Amino acid sequence: MENNESLKSRRSINFFEPNIEISQDKILELIEIANLAPSSFNLQPWKVVVVKDSERKKVLRQCAFNQPKVEEASFVLIIVADPLAIEENIDRVFDSWEKLGYMQHEMRQTYRSMVYQLQGEPDSLKRKFFAIKNASLFAMNLMVAAKGLGLETHPMDGFDEACVKKEFNIPEEKIIPMLIAVGYLKKDIQLLPRAFRRDLSEFVKFERF
Ligand SMILES: Cc1cc2nc3c(=O)[nH]c(=O)nc-3n(C[C@H](O)[C@H](O)[C@H](O)COP(=O)(O)O)c2cc1C
Repeated sequence: MENNESLKSRRSINFFEPNIEISQDKILELIEIANLAPSSFNLQPWKVVVVKDSERKKVLRQCAFNQPKVEEASFVLIIVADPLAIEENIDRVFDSWEKLGYMQHEMRQTYRSMVYQLQGEPDSLKRKFFAIKNASLFAMNLMVAAKGLGLETHPMDGFDEACVKKEFNIPEEKIIPMLIAVGYLKKDIQLLPRAFRRDLSEFVKFERF
């Protein structure tokens, strides 16, 4: 299938063709597809800051240990995991479930208690895991979707989170699991072969760990 080709050919691209602008429509199309990612109780605990202005990319590059790809990529996405997405989205999720027939109205309180039991209170570690886990699925969806649109990507966690939060007005309680640079491979760059992957026998267990 086509998406398996996207997965097989995706690479973390270090050299982007600089100065290529990607239209707002294409950026939004990419995010729209990524937004179909699954999430726990469909709570979608992600937000995205699109950084495409060259001056803003320079600022982000400084927060990202001066990695040149941050500036050379057409745009960079700051993936934001939002621990408060439960409070923000739960009513809308339940409304849609009721309307579409996924859930009877009488089950609302039971489901709400399940969400809080599983994902914890806003400040808890559980809640942070919830946000990061789901936002990372969104991020992976986005990287595969990018391939489908003819774009290349590079995920990064080499950055100073406090600096990114400060420079891009991201509230303190949010978490930034990664940045994703997006653009086109620089002309005449030959990628090195893909680096090692472990043999399945090292990490795949059947029935018991
Ligand atoms: C969460 C995450 C953070 C990463 N951070 C960086 C980074 O800051 N800088 C970098 O050059 N590569 C970074 N990488 C890229 C990895 O080095 C790369 O995915 C890995 O070497 C495998 O290569 P491939 O993606 O081409 O298959 C990151 C990858 C992930 C998934």
